[in-house]
Formats: sequence, C-alpha cells, structure tokens
Amino acid sequence: MSDAGTNAGGAKTGGRRGFGTKIGFIMAAAGSAVGLGNLIRFPYITGEYGGGAFVLVYIAAVLLVGLPLMFSELILGQQGKSGIMGAIRNLTSHCGIASTIMSISTGLLAVITCCMFLAFYSVLGGWTLHYLFGSIGFPGVEIALSKEAFEGFQKNLQLNIVWHSVFMLLTTLVVAGGVQNGIERLCNLLMPMLILFLIGLLGYVAYEGWLNQAVSFLFTPDFSRLSPKAFLDALGQAFFSLSIGMGTMVIYGSYMKQRGTVVRDGVAVSFVDTGIALLGGMVIFSILFSAGQKPDQGLGLLFVTLPNLFAELPAGSVLSIFFFALVVFAAWSSSISLLEVPVSFLIEEFNLSRRLAAALFGLAIWGLGMGCAVSLDFLNQLDSIVSLYLLPLGGMLVAIIVGWMVKADPRDQGFTGRDSGASPLSRCWLFTLRFISPVLIVLILLYKFELLDWLLASSK
Ligand code: PHE
Repeated sequence: MSDAGTNAGGAKTGGRRGFGTKIGFIMAAAGSAVGLGNLIRFPYITGEYGGGAFVLVYIAAVLLVGLPLMFSELILGQQGKSGIMGAIRNLTSHCGIASTIMSISTGLLAVITCCMFLAFYSVLGGWTLHYLFGSIGFPGVEIALSKEAFEGFQKNLQLNIVWHSVFMLLTTLVVAGGVQNGIERLCNLLMPMLILFLIGLLGYVAYEGWLNQAVSFLFTPDFSRLSPKAFLDALGQAFFSLSIGMGTMVIYGSYMKQRGTVVRDGVAVSFVDTGIALLGGMVIFSILFSAGQKPDQGLGLLFVTLPNLFAELPAGSVLSIFFFALVVFAAWSSSISLLEVPVSFLIEEFNLSRRLAAALFGLAIWGLGMGCAVSLDFLNQLDSIVSLYLLPLGGMLVAIIVGWMVKADPRDQGFTGRDSGASPLSRCWLFTLRFISPVLIVLILLYKFELLDWLLASSK
C-alpha cells in the first residue's frame, strides 16, 4: 500500500492512486501476507498437532472463513476508499448510530490488534536479521545450529533487544517516509524469488529422497491428534497468515481500481500464501525427518533445520545469505503493512502528519515489543491473545458489517466487478459471509472454552 499520490503504477482510484498492474497488486498484497506466519508459525503449529489433520482443518479455515473475509476486506477498502474506520463509516452511513458504533469499535480494535501484533512480530523479525548477519559472517554474530543453542539465543536478552530495535526502526523509517511503493516494487521481484528458492530446495530434498516422509506427515490425516484448541489454532493461523482481521487488506483494497472484481486478486493472494506455507513445510519437515528428528521442535524449526542443511551444501553460505535475506524481506514487508494500519488511522482521523504518526506508533510498539524481547512467555501470550481472540473477533465484525450492513450495490460491484446485480458466485459468498463464517468463529470459540457442551446440555 502507499501513501495517496506517491503510489506506484498510477491508475486513478477515486482520488487515490492505485496499483498500475494486477500482478503488482497481487505481489504487494502477497508481500504482506507472506511472512513469518508461513515460514515459522505454520510449520511450528503443524508440527505440534501432528501434521495432516491439522493441515486439512487449516485449509478448511482458509476456504470457509479466510477467503470470504479476504474478499470482504478488499471490498471495504475498494468501495469505501479509506482505512478501516473511514471505509466502514463511508459504506454504512445509512445505518445511523449503528454505523458510528461499528466503525469506531472495529477501527479501534484493528489499530490495537496491529500494535500488539507488530510488538511480538518485530522480535521474531529481529531473529531473522540476526540469522542474516550471522550468515554473512558479521563479527560477533553467530548462528545457532542446534536446538539447545537456539533456545540459548532466544533467551539472550541483549541480542533480542538490539535486533528488535533495529527491525522496528527499519519498519518505522519506511512507513514514515511513505516509500512503501518502493517496497512493493521489490515485492514484484523478491516474492517470485522466494517461491523459486523454495521450489529449488524442494527439488533438492526430493532428489535426496527425503520428501516422502514429509509429504505423508503433512497430507495423511490423523484425527486423533486434534483437540478443540486445534480448530481455534487453525482459524487463528488462517487470519495470521492471510493478514486479515485487522484492517490490512482494507488498506490494500483502497488502492485497487474502483471498477473490477476483487475475487481474482483475493484468490491469487490466498493461493500464493497457502502455497508458500505448504512448500516451506515440505522442505523443513523433509530435512528434519532426514536427520531423524521429531516435528514438534517449536519456533526453532526454520532457524535450526535450514542452517544445518546449508552448512552441508556446496556454496551453502551463499545460499544461507540469500535465503535469510528473502526471509528478512518477507518479514519486513509484512511489518510495514502492519504499521500502516495505525499510522493511516492517525493521518485520516486526526490529520496528523505521516512522520509524526509513524514516530508515535513506532515508539509505542517498540516499547511494547521490549516486553517480548525480554520474555518469551510474554511474546507467546501476546501471540495467543492476538491470533486466537482478537483476529477472529475482528474478522467476525467485518463479516457482520459487509454481510449485513453495507448496501448491496457497492458490495456486489466489488465482488462481480460489474455495475449492478449479484451473480450466483456472489450470492454464495454472501451466504457464507452472513451465516457460515461468523457462526463458525463463534462455535469454535465456544468449543475451545468448553461452553458448547454446556450450552447443548442446558438446552435439553
Ligand atoms: N501475514 C503475515 C505473516 O504471515 C503477518 C501479517 C499479519 C502481516 C497482518 C500484516 C498484517 O507473517
């Protein structure tokens, strides 16, 4: 996303300037979606829940909740031409007080969620920087090659603080300068490179004969490993990975051309995002199993397995630099889009300058992130609160707003790309958005809190 008027491409989008090409939009939005959620969090949770069954539930969550909400956020932005609070206000103004209540509550929730999200994400982003500099051979920066050494690294407060501060500074500088469009151009180049790199690694592990076990782990469901929390985790992971439930995709939508459907782009972004998670998972688990290790290694999967592989390969140190540069970039482009939500809120609602808004939020989030840098428990807690509760709540509010409050005309136009009228597909989407996605979210939350049984029993 970019600041109005400083955007790449140059197609006019009702006062805002939009993306010049479709592929530019897809790669930029994929730059937000593809990040540490795909490469660290997805293999980590999938490993904890024993593979296949979790992957199936995850894909169901993407299709039944993630995708309909991705379309909704893009349409809110495309038709409302603003950040999340303004877009809701613009598109539901006929609803009177309900419009005010929903726009303020959903907008504030998105801002708070993004701040909490970026606070712990930046610490993880800092780890990737450490690995990049370690791969380059920067004096004094060493890469942990064993699980134990990685755990030691995670508990090294000084390193965590330094890298978190550097990562947060890099993010804030880009947002303050309003130069996201430069990053988006880079996304055009680097996203395909990341995909190609992962495909190359996949080819290598297949050639070595390591792939089979990983594929059967990821794609043979064993439902006995699923607990109620697995459903909530799958849902949370879908929100986390697709960058939905906190207004990011609304901002991307606001830079799309006002005419034209959001469906193809939404599908493409979700497809790239899920594809990269699966690709990364196949590579990481292949290497892990080939070394006879267990899949539940926690957050260190990416940081321990891949450097070990690179250490064995010819030209491994170059590959390692290249790979961690791509991962740093993926994390950075995601964190920029996270900071953009609170910053554009201050710009749009309070007329603050971009620089001041970025400095204020950058500093506040850096402060909160310090808590995560010094305590892994706090980091995990923040991650759980955000992914398991705040993102689904934000998503549910968006489903209610787009499903029930936004008028049919803008909603259908955004979906079909035509001037008027719904299509069979858009009716299907609307039905899912109105009845299936919010109900699933509520059921999963009730199930997790063991309230479902209680409700069913007391209704007898
Ligand atoms: N989707 C990103 C990831 O998978 C995280 C993110 C969430 C980025 C929300 C922006 C907004 O890492």
